[in-house]
Parts: sequence; structure tokens; C-alpha cells
Amino acid sequence: MSAIDRRPPVPRYAHGSRVPGWDEAVDLEKAPATVPDPALTPVPQQLREAIEAEMAKYPDRRSASIPALHIAQRHHGWCSPEAITQVACVMRLTPAYLTSVASFYDMFYLQPKAAHEVYVCTNITCSLLGADELYERMCQAAEGHDITVRGFECLGACDIAPMASVDGEYVGPLNLDDPALIVEDVEAGRPVLEHKQLRRRAVADAKGRVENFDGLAPVGQEGN
Ligand code: FES
Repeated sequence: MSAIDRRPPVPRYAHGSRVPGWDEAVDLEKAPATVPDPALTPVPQQLREAIEAEMAKYPDRRSASIPALHIAQRHHGWCSPEAITQVACVMRLTPAYLTSVASFYDMFYLQPKAAHEVYVCTNITCSLLGADELYERMCQAAEGHDITVRGFECLGACDIAPMASVDGEYVGPLNLDDPALIVEDVEAGRPVLEHKQLRRRAVADAKGRVENFDGLAPVGQEGN
């Protein structure tokens, strides 16, 4: 008997695979997914135009799946079955295709979510500068408010660590007083911690001109 023959058999699940597989087995009897019929799928005009504008940027329309899902999520508040069906209708894809994309990425919500999202970065640079305590404070400050707080891996703004993304607005460096201020700003509908927004930080170009990432004057120099 060879060494290979003496190895214990590889354990297998009932369906014959070595991996547990999907939580719900695929229904092989089910009719194949179809692209939604435009005549039966009303899509808000604004949503349609925004998705079509994204599709126009790519040679393969499927490349626009992620931006199109973001647009639908903003419109509906989450990637509801209705939202996904509407995107599928405009993009001429099956809802199953788009669901597979949406379920892969963390920032798409397949369940209803809070009105506001705060992602506190707890990755290495931020955690070395106190992100864990900041995260706890943020959770406490958001209690009872329509705000989801999540710890997140590096958000790519280590230079303003410890930082957070508040409804997509990057703010930092944060201190332990900032979570309460973030909640106040969000609840009041104000720009969040305006003086700590990444896009309001001054940057200098090769000619020494100073402006913000979005072309605005740096905070405190608006009148110059
Ligand atoms: S580690 Fe927090 S932004 Fe990179």
C-alpha cells in the first residue's frame, strides 16, 4: 500500500463536497432567472437616468453594477428586492446577478438600515491612536439615534487617524469628545465636524497654491 493509500479519507458533507456549501441549497427545479420586463417594472426616471449615465462610462455594462447599486441604495435607503429589480431592469441583467454583487460587499445593505452610518476605522494606524475607545464612545453616543455604528478596516485615510466616515464624509483626527458632536451634527442636518473633514484640508500643488481637495478654500481662509 502506498503512502497515499494510507491517508485517512477526506471528510465530506452529505452533498459530497469537502466544504459546507451555501446555507440554502440551490433549487435546481426553479425556473432560470430572467431579466425584468420593462413593461412590468416601473423605474423612477431619476434613478434610470443616473444608472444609464454610469453604464455609459464602461464598454461592458456589467462594470457599472457597483455604482448602479450605490445609486439605488441611496434612492431606496437599502438594496431592497424592488431596488435590485429596478437596477436589473435598466441594466438588462438578472436580479440574481446583482444580488450576488451586493451580497459580496460590506457597504451594500440587503436589509433595511438606519438613516445614517458611522464607520469608525479600527485598523492599525487608527487603533494605535485610540480607535477602540473612540468606537466605544461612538456606539454610546449613537444609542437611541437612527445611526448605525460599525468598526471598519482601514478606510484609507491613515493620515487623519483616528478617523471615521460619517455618511461617507471622512473626518479626523478625532478625539473622545467628537462622537457626541458627530451625533449633534447628524441630528441637526449640519455638515459633520466641518473643520475636521478630509476634503476641507488644505493641499498644496506644485506651484505652491493652496486649496482643498474639492477646490474650496481651506477652513478659516474662505474670504481670501
Ligand atoms: S488605519 Fe484607519 S484609516 Fe488607515
